Amino acid sequence: MDRIRIRGGNELHGIIPISGAKNAALPLMIASLLTDDTLTLENVPHLADVEQLIRILGNHGADISVNGRRERQGESYARTIHFTSRNIVDTTAPYELVSKMRASFWVIGPLLAREGKARVSLPGGCAIGTRPVDLFIEGLTALGANIEIDGGYINATAPEGGLIGARYVFPKVSVGATHVLMMAATRARGTTVIGNAAREPEVVDLANCLNAMGAKITGAGTSTITIEGVTTLSGARHRVLPDRIETGTYAMAVAMAGGDVVLEGTDASLLETALEAIRRAGAEITPTNNGIRVRRNGGGIKPVDVVTDPFPGFPTDLQAQFMGLMTRSSGISHITETIFENRFMHVQELARLGARISLSGQTAKIEGVGRLKGAPVMATDLRASVSLVIAGLVAEGDTMVSRVYHLDRGFERLEEKLTRCGAEVERVSD
Ligand code: UD1
Repeated sequence: MDRIRIRGGNELHGIIPISGAKNAALPLMIASLLTDDTLTLENVPHLADVEQLIRILGNHGADISVNGRRERQGESYARTIHFTSRNIVDTTAPYELVSKMRASFWVIGPLLAREGKARVSLPGGCAIGTRPVDLFIEGLTALGANIEIDGGYINATAPEGGLIGARYVFPKVSVGATHVLMMAATRARGTTVIGNAAREPEVVDLANCLNAMGAKITGAGTSTITIEGVTTLSGARHRVLPDRIETGTYAMAVAMAGGDVVLEGTDASLLETALEAIRRAGAEITPTNNGIRVRRNGGGIKPVDVVTDPFPGFPTDLQAQFMGLMTRSSGISHITETIFENRFMHVQELARLGARISLSGQTAKIEGVGRLKGAPVMATDLRASVSLVIAGLVAEGDTMVSRVYHLDRGFERLEEKLTRCGAEVERVSD
């Protein structure tokens, strides 16, 4: 199994191209099941999760072709992928496929809307606390679906004539459930109003794509989304928005290691709260024509407290990385996780590098230390694993991160992007 070796101590200087957002690409790919025309997605990142979803969509009958294209801009390997689901040949998403990636559960929305039925395994995915699906079930039930759980599967059927538009207010903000309800409602009869909807940029990206396909969605990006149902959707061409989590991760890497890097092809407005926290920690962040420039020269890292929250708050997907950064701050900081329970698996691994972190409920207290020392560590989930890379950039000697398949789920060519900026990062295959 591959491992990643990081030799700490180098500053980062240069350009890092930011990929298309994994968390937008996945629901956009799933939206292709809503139409028998071709949905073409540009700027799709080359990631294990995308490959896995290609297999899952293929299983439902999608015909998928990939045009690899080396984009000039920052030499990103963004791909253009065409998805055509002329016929849905199977409305079952089996355990073997869904258990590998939680987001594949989301096919339930389009399958129910288009075929009137879906049988989808209860999901697995990252081990970051219990992640129930009650909100999906409640939301789809509000649209008239009949849902039964049997043998680890959800069996969902739409009423005769299809789903029916309704008003539904989520009791809790959920990105996934908002995606699914929005997709399902595009082809429901009548109007659906979703209250307390997730406002994440990926929800807006999905709504824009669905509208390009002929849906009638307004309000995406606010907490109330209105969807007027239509009978069919057509094909479209859509460019996946930049990955704000990858952007924030590399901004934190530069803040940690020091140096001067342009993150190319991204947009600061996607992650203002996180960028503000990184600024307060001591980095200088300025917008450029086509991205953002991050610098930290000389001055140390200051302690900053953050609390994760749904968008536009500080993203839970950047929590582990920020903790990595705070391990080297000049004082005490606190990080509170409000989205997921048990999303602190990286604490023990950071401690192996010499970090001083104590946990009390959902809050971590980080006492900054003057030095970290390389050690063998283990990636535990996607975002946790990259926090170890960030810490490794300044740890003395070698940090060897095992179980890097977690990283490959969400970070495109991480070692190449960092190496080009002067870091010593290499993949080691055993
Ligand atoms: C998505 C992102 C993930 C990010 C998360 C929060 C993708 C592929 N994944 O995950 O990277 O960390 O948003 O920004 O885009 N919940 C329930 N019942 C449900 C559904 C969710 O209680 O039916 C809870 C969850 O346990 C969690 C919270 O709601 O505590 C938020 O989860 P949700 O926004 O649904 O996360 P995901 O969509 O799974």
